[in-house]
Amino acid sequence: MGRDIVEKRKNVYVCANCGYQSIKWLGKCPECNEWGTFEEEITISPSSSNKNNSSNKSNTDIQVYDYNKISGDEKERYTTSMSEFDRLLGGGLLKGEVVLFTGNPGIGKSTLLLQAAEEYSKYGEVIYISGEESPAQIKNRGNRIGITGKNLSLINETDIMKIYDYIILKKPKIVIIDSIQTLYNVELESVAGTPTQIRESTLKITELAKKYDTSFFIIGHITKDGKVAGPKLLEHMVDAVFNFEGEDGFFYRILRSTKNRFGSTNEIAVFSMEENGMKEIKNSSEYFLNERDEKNIGSMVVPVLEGTKVFLLEIQALITEAINGIPRRVVSGFDRNRIQILTAVVDKKIGMGLGMMDLFINVPGGININDPSADLGVIISILSVFRGVAISQKIAAIGELGLRGEIRKVFFLDKRLKELEKLGFSGVYVPEANRKEIEKNRYKLKLIYLRNIEEFLEGIKKDG
Ligand SMILES: Nc1ncnc2c1ncn2[C@@H]1O[C@H](COP(=O)(O)OP(=O)(O)OP(=O)(O)O)[C@@H](O)[C@H]1O
Ligand SMILES: [Mg+2]
Repeated sequence: MGRDIVEKRKNVYVCANCGYQSIKWLGKCPECNEWGTFEEEITISPSSSNKNNSSNKSNTDIQVYDYNKISGDEKERYTTSMSEFDRLLGGGLLKGEVVLFTGNPGIGKSTLLLQAAEEYSKYGEVIYISGEESPAQIKNRGNRIGITGKNLSLINETDIMKIYDYIILKKPKIVIIDSIQTLYNVELESVAGTPTQIRESTLKITELAKKYDTSFFIIGHITKDGKVAGPKLLEHMVDAVFNFEGEDGFFYRILRSTKNRFGSTNEIAVFSMEENGMKEIKNSSEYFLNERDEKNIGSMVVPVLEGTKVFLLEIQALITEAINGIPRRVVSGFDRNRIQILTAVVDKKIGMGLGMMDLFINVPGGININDPSADLGVIISILSVFRGVAISQKIAAIGELGLRGEIRKVFFLDKRLKELEKLGFSGVYVPEANRKEIEKNRYKLKLIYLRNIEEFLEGIKKDG
């Protein structure tokens, strides 16, 4: 049998970035043009790796379902006391769902999932499988964050086949794998963490999830350029992908759903890392907007959509004279190219001479704004510094800017306005183009309609 397997082994080199395969090692991938991404993989033909499976069954064994007889009821969802966490999952973790949970080293993946494990144990047995830390280390963390551990067991194993058999035997409700990069299959000759091993282990996990309705969280490492370490395929194999983000030196963390088969994507939830674990921050807008004066120069609040939720964020601008005559654009939390376009448009309109000045744009809180409706907020904060006009911090701005300086319609305006009202704002700049759609609604907010930047400038001239 040993020889049988050897004969069917095939060596290929696979690009870890895009999955391109080659029979010899290549320095540069001809598909995605990345350098040094080729890794040797040993593939085993299906007849030897799945010897007990379907290879010798006839075609008539295929299971066919009559569409009308399939029960389409949604399966049970497991919930926790962390409502923001559940919201990202689309209302809780589904029975049999596989969630890939990624994030930088030390960001708090193990901590958050240990907390979740404790909460899920009210539904039945939960197993935490760790190939990275010893049970004693996990227990230490658990003691610190107040884990009681009822229905929770720890396994310190990395052999996927042993884990596979154990899960079939125990049929736990929920399993947490910490991490996928530590698992390996002895039948494959590559070491743990290679694309082949990661793919094989994930295949086994998804198979268990489908067959036995066990739900999985798989912790995955990410590479230094922010991609999930392992084959690109990994993200396709799982039902949902969550990424835990944060910056060095800050204690808040942002959990983001980048894929979700059972809920909407690009949702975010905010957590803060405390001595006793991750605490969710329910009213995140308040959190992002704290420590602000009543009136400020160079600051504007924008309500942006992340997934289906509105977050109020502050945009700050600063202009200084360029040293050596080379103007700098230092941007954090916003697309740099977008800032170049926006400044070009305002500069053209009112001749600010920005070409001779340094411009700094910052979004405190570590969130990256991708919503074009924040354009107007950027422009107003730049104009505010330029003219030295302080802006009331009870006023926000919503609008996308076109190249002619026109302020364009935005989506989900009503939702954004409601969030501003909830947080006690008194007025907001909105696009004239949205007037028809919102005129019929009643808001406590004062709505200031704008067609273009000139209208805004006239407005501040009038008000002084
Ligand atoms: N006593 C403590 N009080 C507060 N925070 C702590 C304490 N001990 C550890 N931490 C924090 O917990 C974080 C580690 O969290 P955790 O181990 O969950 O991260 P991780 O994402 O699983 O990391 P890794 O990639 O190493 O597995 C560290 O950043 C550390 O700052
Ligand atoms: Mg960890």
